[in-house]
Amino acid sequence: MEIDRLYVGDAIEVMRGLPQRSIDLVCADPPYNLGKNYGNNIDKKERRQYEDFTRDWLQSVARVLKDNGTIYVFMGVRFISRLYVILEEMGLSFNGWITWHYTQGMGRTKGFSPRHEDILYFVKGKYPTFNLDDIRIPQKYYRERNNMKGANPGDVWQFSHVHYCSQEREDHPTQKPEGVLERMIRASSNPGDVVLDPFVGSGTTCKVARSLGRHWIGIDTNPDYISISEKRIAHSTTLFDSVDPRANRTPVDSKSRS
Ligand SMILES: C[S@@+](CC[C@H](N)C(=O)[O-])C[C@H]1O[C@@H](n2cnc3c(N)ncnc32)[C@H](O)[C@@H]1O
Repeated sequence: MEIDRLYVGDAIEVMRGLPQRSIDLVCADPPYNLGKNYGNNIDKKERRQYEDFTRDWLQSVARVLKDNGTIYVFMGVRFISRLYVILEEMGLSFNGWITWHYTQGMGRTKGFSPRHEDILYFVKGKYPTFNLDDIRIPQKYYRERNNMKGANPGDVWQFSHVHYCSQEREDHPTQKPEGVLERMIRASSNPGDVVLDPFVGSGTTCKVARSLGRHWIGIDTNPDYISISEKRIAHSTTLFDSVDPRANRTPVDSKSRS
């Protein structure tokens, strides 16, 4: 298996060529079946077809994931509950339902404006990696009972979208914030581990994985996105394009503060 490389092709086909139990962490952001135009592929399948596609690629993931490996899957609200069931059917164990909350986005006039997407967090086995100390955020209060190394960030993550005007924005319609991937990769892998993104798009996962000293593999059917990813990865840096605003807060309170 070649690591630290990108593959142009279908995720299921490419994963067939990866050895069983060779991947420590999968960060997957599949098409949500909402009709997005990804250049050479349109994200619109019959519901049944989309379910079959989801089952097939997750079966491949379950095969290549190491025991005690982890998978995070991004998904829109319309399919998330079905995705949950399919992940369980693959023999994976639930470990969290993360809500990515963004403060800006499309406005609606006939309903509430959408302000979140969800991420399902499943593991294979009983002893998955979880490096809590690497992802802590400042405590809100200085109190003796609080851990002064910081707090667990919880399961609602606040990161802004990569705005169309921002310098980091690539020519891809659903680029994810690097800060979100940073948290997943720091928490659920160690330096030297292998991180796989079967739907790599503009290369966010691989860029962050490389910056954090992990090995990486990315797959996408669109060769233009693979070229964007290659350029991005070559310029990887640890200055990620987004941070959780809570990470910058100043802890307050406590008479016992020294
Ligand atoms: C939601 S986007 C991923 C965005 C990515 N997380 C980023 O930050 O740029 C999904 C990607 O999956 C790709 N794709 C669609 N069907 C695929 C398939 N069968 N195998 C591999 N990639 C596929 C699309 O071209 C698109 O770039």
